[in-house]
Amino acid sequence: GKLLLLNGPNLNRLGKREPDVYGSETLEDIEKKVRSVLEPYQYQLDSSQSNHEGELIDWIHEAEGKYHGIIFNPGAYTHTSIALRDAISSITVPVIEVHISNVHKRESFRHTSMLAPVCSGQIVGLGTNGYRLAAMYFLESNL
Ligand code: DQA
Repeated sequence: GKLLLLNGPNLNRLGKREPDVYGSETLEDIEKKVRSVLEPYQYQLDSSQSNHEGELIDWIHEAEGKYHGIIFNPGAYTHTSIALRDAISSITVPVIEVHISNVHKRESFRHTSMLAPVCSGQIVGLGTNGYRLAAMYFLESNL
């Protein structure tokens, strides 16, 4: 198996950014955690972060035929991006949407996901563990 860990805008600031909301772990810490879940099963993990919608779209397109699953925190694009939704629809690779914070406890503009209807599932509000749980889902699905 080969998985892609994809993070959208502002997630490069994890660890420094609103620690009361997102915790103190960095993106690097998260990558390590996800990798440690996958390593015993010889699963490979690539990880990318971008603050640019178009770059995320390009990477989603390129994932077709290359990865068995995508763990995706789209950041604020979750709530706005029809283009990212169409990109996910255009590939057959299953995508799990992850949010560190419980978006449903927050501002109402965070309650809607443009992407959830075209994802396999969504993990919300379980902190950075959500990424690990998504990796475990792919493992247990033998993807
Ligand atoms: C987030 C939630 C989004 O609403 C927000 O814009 C983010 C992070 C999360 O992981 O909780 O950037 O995706």
